[in-house]
Formats: sequence, structure tokens, C-alpha cells
Amino acid sequence: MSVSSRDFLPRRIPLSLITIRPATLFDLNEIMRIERQSFREQYPRGLFLMFLEANRETFLVAEYNGQVIGYVMGYLKPDMEGHIMSIAVDPLYRGNGIGRALMEAVIDRLIKRGARYIGLEVRVSNQGAIKLYERLGFKKMKIIRRYYSDGEDAYYMMLTPESWGGKS
Ligand SMILES: CC(C)(COP(=O)(O)OP(=O)(O)OC[C@H]1O[C@@H](n2cnc3c(N)ncnc32)[C@H](O)[C@@H]1OP(=O)(O)O)[C@@H](O)C(=O)NCCC(=O)NCCS
Repeated sequence: MSVSSRDFLPRRIPLSLITIRPATLFDLNEIMRIERQSFREQYPRGLFLMFLEANRETFLVAEYNGQVIGYVMGYLKPDMEGHIMSIAVDPLYRGNGIGRALMEAVIDRLIKRGARYIGLEVRVSNQGAIKLYERLGFKKMKIIRRYYSDGEDAYYMMLTPESWGGKS
């Protein structure tokens, strides 16, 4: 079967057609496909399963036309720090506001559950993600040297409920 080059063109879709909802077991294959397309290193399937079991309300997917096209994994630590473990959008659907919508949804849920603040780590080279987080009000707090297994540094970025303000 031949694959048309059209299959690789970015898709422009209105956000009104996107549903954001908690992930289920049935979404795992699609989530792992998007993860493979988005990151150099992958989490094992068991980790996604454990995360799903423990964080049902803050592991969210974006669905379009019955297909999962993005996900965000958030959780609340025992000390009430909300944390974003991962976010990715299918490369074909980036630039449509889906990453922002996923982040807004998970931030709302974490703050409603009592998060004192929300933290995340991001590669210092990941300008796109850093821009997204800064647009949402996250601030770079510190550099964590050699945070990633390939030796790259991370920024630890943080958002407070106060800087989230009226959005929640
Ligand atoms: C980062 C990522 C999730 C963004 O998803 P997206 O759906 O394309 O982002 P959005 O369309 O919602 O963009 C939201 C904002 O971020 C900014 N942004 C997102 N990607 C950007 C890029 N590559 N370059 C510059 N700015 C970018 C946009 O300017 C936009 O701002 P605006 O709403 O004021 O216009 C997506 O690029 C991705 O999956 N990347 C690979 C995985 C990854 O790096 N995850 C983060 C790990 S820490």
C-alpha cells in the first residue's frame, strides 16, 4: 500500500472539535504511539499503567474524531506539589492549541485538588515547550544539571495558583 505525502501534512483543526477527558486503558496504545513520535527515550508500558491507576483524574487525553492526538500526565505529590510528568501532542496536530488546552485542563484539576504550586522539568533545548509553559505563567526557577540520561540539563519551572489567577 502506498502512503500519500498528504498523510504527513500538519492538520489545522478548530479547538471546538477537541474533547479533553481522563485517559483509560483503551487509550494506552495511542498514547505510547504519540510518546514514541515525541521523545528520544520512552517510558515502559507498565509505568503508564501504574500512572493511570494512581492518577485517574489528572492523566488526560485530547481526542479528535475518535482518535487520541495528545496527552498530559499530572499528579499530586504527598506534599501537595502538583507535578507535570509528561505532555505530548501528535506531530501532525501541533500548533492548534491542543498542548495549551491539555495544560490548562490539568492545571485546573491539580489546583482544585489543592496543589500549592505546580512544577515540571523541561530540557533546556526544548524551546517550544518552554514557550508553552511561559505562556501559561510558569517561571524558570533553577537549572538541574545533567537531569536527563544523555547529560542534558533541565529547567525546573513552577506555576503558583496566584499566577494562575482567575483562569482556574
Ligand atoms: C510542546 C508541545 C506539547 C506543544 O503542543 P502544541 O499543541 O503544538 O502547542 P500549542 O499549539 O498549544 O501552543 C501553545 C503555545 O506554545 C507555543 N509553542 C508551542 N510549540 C512551540 C514551538 N515549537 N515553538 C515556539 N512556540 C511554541 C505557541 O506559541 C503557543 O502560544 P500561543 O497560544 O500564545 O500562540 C508539542 O510541541 C510536543 O508534543 N512536543 C514534543 C514533546 C515535548 O517536548 N513535550 C514537552 C516535554 S517537557
